[in-house]
Amino acid sequence: MFQVQPNDIQKCSDSSINSSRDPIKIRTFVELTMDVASASPRRYFFEVMSFFAIAEHEKERLQYFASPEGRDDLYQYNQKERRTVLEVLEDFPSVQMPFEWLVQLVPPLKTRSFSIASSLSAHPNQVHLTVSIVSWMTPFKRKRCGLCSTWLAGLDPQKKVHIPVWFYRGSLPPPPTSLPLILIGPGTGCAPFHGFVEERAVQSVSGPTAPVLFFFGCRNEASDFLYRDFWLFHTQSSGVLSEEKGGGFFVAFSRDQPQKVYVQHKMKEESQRIWSLLSAGAAVYIAGSSTKMPADVSSALEEIILKESGIPKESAARWLRLLEKDGRYNVEAWS
Ligand SMILES: Cc1cc2nc3c(=O)[nH]c(=O)nc-3n(C[C@H](O)[C@H](O)[C@H](O)COP(=O)(O)OP(=O)(O)OC[C@H]3O[C@@H](n4cnc5c(N)ncnc54)[C@H](O)[C@@H]3O)c2cc1C
Ligand SMILES: NC(=O)c1ccc[n+]([C@@H]2O[C@H](COP(=O)([O-])OP(=O)(O)OC[C@H]3O[C@@H](n4cnc5c(N)ncnc54)[C@H](OP(=O)(O)O)[C@@H]3O)[C@@H](O)[C@H]2O)c1
Repeated sequence: MFQVQPNDIQKCSDSSINSSRDPIKIRTFVELTMDVASASPRRYFFEVMSFFAIAEHEKERLQYFASPEGRDDLYQYNQKERRTVLEVLEDFPSVQMPFEWLVQLVPPLKTRSFSIASSLSAHPNQVHLTVSIVSWMTPFKRKRCGLCSTWLAGLDPQKKVHIPVWFYRGSLPPPPTSLPLILIGPGTGCAPFHGFVEERAVQSVSGPTAPVLFFFGCRNEASDFLYRDFWLFHTQSSGVLSEEKGGGFFVAFSRDQPQKVYVQHKMKEESQRIWSLLSAGAAVYIAGSSTKMPADVSSALEEIILKESGIPKESAARWLRLLEKDGRYNVEAWS
């Protein structure tokens, strides 16, 4: 057990840990503040480790990693393999780094953002999330898992757990009922739009709502068609995404055939409907995890405007910029 004393009381007033200054277990402190199991340590960490290494061969290796000559090898061993602090410490067991040093050198645990996937009107006092479990293989074929998504997936829904949570205003403003919408959200990018459709469904009970076109994309129909039944339900019998309401739901399965099919391909197939909704004052909302997706979708929209309106290329690009200026082109993307 030990006690945490803030340097600056003002700065620490909203800290989630130990605001009462009660003694705290070292384990709890590490779990809440230090990223020992996800982020890779920096070069200086290796330099300090070399100082505290007892075995000579480990000291030499660590000194090499910390030197300018060892920079490339350190990159291959550490960053490229996404080695964590715990793994590095395990690889150099003779290092006896004091806790005071670890506290200063281990990367701080960062918060993760998630889009709200539910509507407060449909689910009062609840917030639903749509989380993909991140995992990938390193160049040396070691399986890496995302820290927060894996942890969330491992929670037992039957057990109550206290999770520190903050709410921030996102970059997708809630659309008014009368605003026609063109939504593009591949993968977990569908999360905010699940909330939008839920909200519109509640609103449509008491009055008319503007049309919604939703373009969704995922890898395979069989494995990651998120909320399949929900979207299909709302395409039927005067649902928010139904043709009767001027709406539509279009899905691109990228890996169900030899060549990739993405949301932008589906958008081009529906270019007439997109243009007619855009001309009627619709707003475009884009969300998702791909780094290239928002730019590709923007190019597709430009092509659609060009084709359907017959205006010159520069004017199509200007048209989109004006849409953005007007607050009718909103993007929330992450990598
Ligand atoms: C505004 C916003 C909204 C978001 N909304 C959602 C949402 O609704 N749902 C959702 O699931 N996520 C969402 N995210 C992403 C989320 O915040 C996390 O980044 C994601 O869940 C991964 O966190 P993690 O802790 O599991 O992974 P981490 O431990 O943080 O690992 C992820 C990191 O691993 C590395 N990495 C991942 N894949 C590879 C690869 N193939 N090759 C090499 N390195 C790789 C990258 O450096 C990546 O940043 C959102 C992000 C933002 C900024
Ligand atoms: N293990 C799994 O089965 C699994 C499944 C889903 C997600 N995940 C993890 O979760 C993370 C986030 O997942 P996610 O569901 O939000 O996204 P995602 O599955 O990575 O992507 C969603 C869809 O967008 C497609 N896409 C890729 N580049 C695009 C572009 N430039 N334009 C338009 N579409 C594009 C993807 O196709 P392609 O990927 O085929 O190019 C996929 O069909 C992933 O990075 C991954 O680590 C794992």
